[in-house]
Amino acid sequence: MSGGLVTAAYIVAAILFIFSLAGLSKHETSKQGNIFGVVGMAIALIATIFGPDSSNMGWIIVAMVIGGAIGIYLAKKVEMTEMPELVAVLHSFVGLAAVLVGFNSFIEHQPGSMEHVMENIHLTEVFLGIFIGAVTFTGSIVAFGKLRGTISSKPLMLPSRHKLNLAALVVSFLLMVWFVNTGSTSVQVMCVLLMTIIALAFGWHLVASIGGADMPVVVSMLNSYSGWAAAAAGFMLSNDLLIVTGALVGSSGAILSYIMCKAMNRSFFSVIAGGFGTDGSSTGEDQEMGEYRETTAEEVAEQLKGSSSVIITPGYGMAVAQAQYPVAEITAKLRAMGVKVRFGIHPVAGRLPGHMNVLLAEAKVPYDIVLEMDEINDDFADTDTVLVIGANDTVNPAAMEDPRSPIAGMPVLEVWKAQNVIVFKRSMNTGYAGVQNPLFFKDNTQMLFGDAKASVEAILRAL
Ligand code: TAP
Repeated sequence: MSGGLVTAAYIVAAILFIFSLAGLSKHETSKQGNIFGVVGMAIALIATIFGPDSSNMGWIIVAMVIGGAIGIYLAKKVEMTEMPELVAVLHSFVGLAAVLVGFNSFIEHQPGSMEHVMENIHLTEVFLGIFIGAVTFTGSIVAFGKLRGTISSKPLMLPSRHKLNLAALVVSFLLMVWFVNTGSTSVQVMCVLLMTIIALAFGWHLVASIGGADMPVVVSMLNSYSGWAAAAAGFMLSNDLLIVTGALVGSSGAILSYIMCKAMNRSFFSVIAGGFGTDGSSTGEDQEMGEYRETTAEEVAEQLKGSSSVIITPGYGMAVAQAQYPVAEITAKLRAMGVKVRFGIHPVAGRLPGHMNVLLAEAKVPYDIVLEMDEINDDFADTDTVLVIGANDTVNPAAMEDPRSPIAGMPVLEVWKAQNVIVFKRSMNTGYAGVQNPLFFKDNTQMLFGDAKASVEAILRAL
């Protein structure tokens, strides 16, 4: 394939990636967006493999077959609820790849083979690429561990942690200046190795010091970092498509992080500086909450029949129980009986952005009754019954009422304003952020204990 053809293919692929992002931003066009992305990536791979810069085709194909097989196996096996962990691991691979590309570019580079200014630019690219890649690599591994539960979701609160972070940045910057300006290869090797160690520790510390409740922002922030790491690798390899793709991922990840911060009422900088919302926090466990009341599936069915408007607020528990199918059936049945049924979706319900929307779409719940938090929050006061199915933090009034709560300030679905609230869960355990929920003890709340799928199916039978 000639260089010109490769460039043309790269432009087509880049445009398809932009269409893909546009498509993925709406329910109705998300499938189409996915297809654009797949086609764009296929074009990009073919053009790169058969382009003039590639050699050793045999090795590339062996690596692709092995990588592709592992990818297909993992994608088939992974549960929807484990998706953020998978995404976190994939980000760590991007980070590691950027580090390896950086080292490779440094080793391959012949000093004096370029003009002085170009040489400085190249060395800066190498240094920054390795730095961003190393931060993304260890940060993503910690995020993976926290999401999986193998690393405590409590923030690591080292004394003077902000000063440590700042010192890591300043020392790395000074090393970069030395790396670019010294003529000695051995000094360069020392600078780059020292910076890699600092960046690995910095990435680890950055994510370790972020509390569980802020993890959604961390996942999208690492997504953004992995994009910048890929763009840096693109500069080192002089591959325009990698630069464009990396910039698209980097900026869309940054926009997503910003949207999520706004949804959770967090400032972006306080989240990335770590440990936000956790100083002097109260988890509510030491407070006397009072008594809670239990109900049965039959009673809930009766109550639903007597309601004229119902809102369902699903959360992580619906995903774990895979209750979306019976939930969709109940919805259809109640609508057929003339009850107005709608869904209220919190922006961080579940464990990944859009988690609930995907599950409800999978169960064929009509899009027009699935509303965002902002669209439905004022309607709870006029609602007869709210079904809180496996949600906890996203319906916790403490976020609005207790300034010492780790989730203080996060907007929540104000379900307690409805006439009756039914909470579906298995026990009185806390949700992801580890805070007790005063909603469960309110006079208009009743608890329906058990696996969400079994409970919803029991209600369906009773209806
Ligand atoms: P959570 O607060 O995590 O609560 C889920 C509830 O579901 C738990 O209290 C659990 O109680 C219940 N549950 C679990 N399995 C169940 C089952 N099989 N049947 C019935 N109930 C079950 O959920 P949420 O309200 O969706 O909030 C999401 C949380 O995750 C937020 O804190 C958010 O910040 C965080 N987070 C979100 C994301 C994104 S991007 N969305 C990413 C990472 C973290 P029992 O154990 O008593 O059953």
